[in-house]
Amino acid sequence: MPSATTEEVLVLDFGGQYSQLIARRIRECGVFAELLPAKTPLAEIERRRPKAVVLSGGPASVHDPGAPEFPPDLAGLDVPVLGICYGMQAMAKAMGGRVEAAESGEFGRTELTVTGDGGALLGGLPQEQTCWMSHRDAVYEAPEGFVPIASTPGSPVAALESAERGMYGIQFHPEVVHTPFGTEVLTRFLREVAGCVGQWSAASIVTEQVAAIREQVGEGKAICGLSGGVDSSVAAKLVHEAIGDRLTCVFVDHGLMRLNEAEQVVEDFQHFGIPLVHVDAEERFLSRLAGVTDPETKRKIIGEEFIRVFEEEAAKIEGADFLVQGTLYSDVIESGGSDHAATIKSHHNVGGLPEDLQFELVEPLRMLFKDEVRAVGTELELPDRMVWRQPFPGPGLGIRIVGGEVNRERLDILRAADQILHEEVGGANLYRELWQFFCVLPVIRSVGVQGDGRTYAYPIVIRAVTSTDAMTADWARLPYEVLEKVSGRIINEVAGVNRVAYDITSKPPGTIEWE
Ligand code: XMP
Repeated sequence: MPSATTEEVLVLDFGGQYSQLIARRIRECGVFAELLPAKTPLAEIERRRPKAVVLSGGPASVHDPGAPEFPPDLAGLDVPVLGICYGMQAMAKAMGGRVEAAESGEFGRTELTVTGDGGALLGGLPQEQTCWMSHRDAVYEAPEGFVPIASTPGSPVAALESAERGMYGIQFHPEVVHTPFGTEVLTRFLREVAGCVGQWSAASIVTEQVAAIREQVGEGKAICGLSGGVDSSVAAKLVHEAIGDRLTCVFVDHGLMRLNEAEQVVEDFQHFGIPLVHVDAEERFLSRLAGVTDPETKRKIIGEEFIRVFEEEAAKIEGADFLVQGTLYSDVIESGGSDHAATIKSHHNVGGLPEDLQFELVEPLRMLFKDEVRAVGTELELPDRMVWRQPFPGPGLGIRIVGGEVNRERLDILRAADQILHEEVGGANLYRELWQFFCVLPVIRSVGVQGDGRTYAYPIVIRAVTSTDAMTADWARLPYEVLEKVSGRIINEVAGVNRVAYDITSKPPGTIEWE
């Protein structure tokens, strides 16, 4: 994605669990970084003219048969190289150092001692500091011409460098927050060793993307399916900056959004002057969902209907050859790497469109991490509620009415309860601490007593989780006072509910959603 003048660092991925994080941290230091497979041919690396190459950690031992090797010709490229963890071991071994299996590895927080003058990476930093380790093998002797610059109890050489060869290695993980000087070490490598200026920012992304979109679309027309989520909103705004009213957004309103959310999307896009077709398809969706209780069937119906409505609307927009998608870098990496094959975002998402759609894709976010997309959203002056919107499943509230049919009465109950939860969590300033929080309506009734009478009504389950990526999640320790207020308000204000429960299940073994 970056233009020819952009500074770029290539991260060769040896399969470590933190490889993506390395790229993210480098970008946070203001330098564009891209993740490439460890086996990327040297010619490709050379063609990219990177300012530096970083070798990630990985699960192998350098002594395993077939273990990934330090790319032999990298040394001849005249590009600075930083090996991290396995990357350093592979470098040390290839350059003639001694790497051996340690008696016991080092895992977790470890005391690091800076030795000698600490070199370019550690010079002037505290002699004793904490770092995060995760390794079994260790470097016992630095290769000839390399200077050891740190040690830990289990790593005689915990960092090394050869300024002459432009090779640097650290056994610890600078990319995780548990290494307090990690960002400093990365910054020194990028600025002082690799000579990067640090020009990568939300503003530069906008400038580059607007130019790239103009070039791709030319005088053509584009359409964009909006979900109300941050990705499609930011993608739409970027494309609108680039081609103005030759972009039309299509918002398929399935009637399964939260309270006032659909209206908000329409209002926001009107405010920005972005042409928007709002398709009120609630009736269509609800009539197809009538009588359906099986969760997979619900998802399927919602997905199919979505595509049908979208295609009908797209067909009405004459001359549109381009389809804007909010595909992110994490989607690209997960679906098999950074080749530029047109992958339609379909996994887990009601916005997934069939592959036979006759459009060329415009994917302005495909090299960006989620936090960068948010920064770009802010740069484009999108409102915070849009930029910081929580993940919301494509099938919407349709998968939060569990064990029974989705109908308007239940949706209204769920929306009213959810609105109260949002008001109270927002009021307690907890919004950004939580990954997601929402209400679930199990279709069962239980007995209660309200006033002088017995009630027979639905429960509402509150789900609030903390997470960094939705792969795992922990139930949030919401303050009792907040829970009490939410529960009291839901029961008093939402007719049809007489009980509120709090879900205290983590993922795994639970999932975030109930269906
Ligand atoms: P689970 O429930 O699998 O959810 O722990 C992980 C994340 O994915 C979201 N989610 C969905 N998103 N369509 C979507 O677009 C779906 O059918 C769907 N189901 C779950 C969920 O909200 C969470 O962020």
